[in-house]
Amino acid sequence: MVNPDSHALVSARAAGAYRASAKALAEEPEEIVRLVKDSGLRGRGGAGFPTGLKWTFLPKNRDATYLCVNADESEPGTFKDRLILEKDPHLLIEGIVIACHAIRCAHAYLYIRGEFCLPYERIRAAAAEAYAAGLLGPNAGGSGQPIDLTIHRGAGAYICGEETALLNSIEGKKGQPRMKPPFPTNVGLFGKPTVINNVETLANLPFIVENGPDAYRAIGTEKSPGTRLMSVSGHIEKPGVYEVAHGVPMRGLIEDLAGGVRGGRKLKALIPGGSSTPVLTAEEAYAVNVDFESVQATGSMLGSGGCIVMDETTDMVWALDKLAHFYAHESCGQCTPCREGSGWIAEIVQKIAAGNGTRKDLEKLESLAAQIVGNTICVFSDALAMPVVSHVTKFRAEFEAHLADRASSSAAP
Ligand SMILES: Cc1cc2nc3c(=O)[nH]c(=O)nc-3n(C[C@H](O)[C@H](O)[C@H](O)COP(=O)(O)O)c2cc1C
Ligand code: SF4
Repeated sequence: MVNPDSHALVSARAAGAYRASAKALAEEPEEIVRLVKDSGLRGRGGAGFPTGLKWTFLPKNRDATYLCVNADESEPGTFKDRLILEKDPHLLIEGIVIACHAIRCAHAYLYIRGEFCLPYERIRAAAAEAYAAGLLGPNAGGSGQPIDLTIHRGAGAYICGEETALLNSIEGKKGQPRMKPPFPTNVGLFGKPTVINNVETLANLPFIVENGPDAYRAIGTEKSPGTRLMSVSGHIEKPGVYEVAHGVPMRGLIEDLAGGVRGGRKLKALIPGGSSTPVLTAEEAYAVNVDFESVQATGSMLGSGGCIVMDETTDMVWALDKLAHFYAHESCGQCTPCREGSGWIAEIVQKIAAGNGTRKDLEKLESLAAQIVGNTICVFSDALAMPVVSHVTKFRAEFEAHLADRASSSAAP
């Protein structure tokens, strides 16, 4: 049975919370970094970068270090961090304490999506409880070291989930990505070495510290250890967040756990890792496993685990129209290829969706998507280009059927 008070400290403690952080605080920071490296934990924010390795990029001699917790969760189709913030905020705070100790950070910042009202209330209340219990504060967990937590609310921009835009936003600047290098581990928040980690990534730390890296590696696959929170949405009988061991078949997640495609219809397409990851056909989706390497082998990415299910009634041009509109709206506008290209792409897709597009428009769409990749400050442009290319390539017949000059296009050699 679900405990309606699972977010409260008393419930969390009854379930074993803060045992792992007490254990971690009694160890040398380097030992915690070693444990996390050995566990093979990979970031859950999108790129799947090894967490322990990221921590080792911090310079040896530094006067201050920051941890930024990425709770922006703005990727369409992804809603698993929200669940942690709402239902188990102390798991996250415990993970933050462990990470702060490991990287010698005295002040963590949690950047939370502006639209998250209940999650914000819950994490704020949990932080207050943790301060009152001495788990955070000048003598965190009785360790003699300070660990403070500042919670910063975003204002609704998707791009502020990108780690350097997030840093600018916390600093009170425009939420726009920074050029890299320098990378945040060298020059981050307020110019100091900074680690940015996703909520779910940090929520894995208590298990690793308490049970050890071998126990963690016993779950999942060799290259994707541990479990994964998959957000399942769209045309599905039981939408929701499902925790699965990495490596389970996607078919099992969709058909068994999430109850199958709604109304017994057939699957047409599936976006596996949030809106910016390339779409899979039904055949690809049913053949893939839920782990980083399997999804990568299909040419897509497991990303943030946002699984969007589309049934046989879906008009794929309509679907791309919605995505393209979103990305055009969310471009921060710093780079010309992204600013102009995203708007142009959205216009063309809309034209095709309305039945007014031509064969030339379709070619222009593909050419634009190819040109914006890799020519910008951040990978937002890739996040837009990948869905465009995959939708058009894999569902070309549907795009061609929408063209105003489709008769001549189908007659063309
Ligand atoms: C456009 C864009 C949006 C992003 N949005 C998020 C987000 O909402 N939440 C998140 O954790 N990471 C997001 N990321 C990834 C972060 O930049 C960063 O890689 C991540 O927070 C690192 O944490 P991890 O190593 O624990 O995965 C985004 C990246 C890009 C390019
Ligand atoms: S790629 Fe787009 S979102 Fe990223 S910095 Fe450039 S304009 Fe902004």
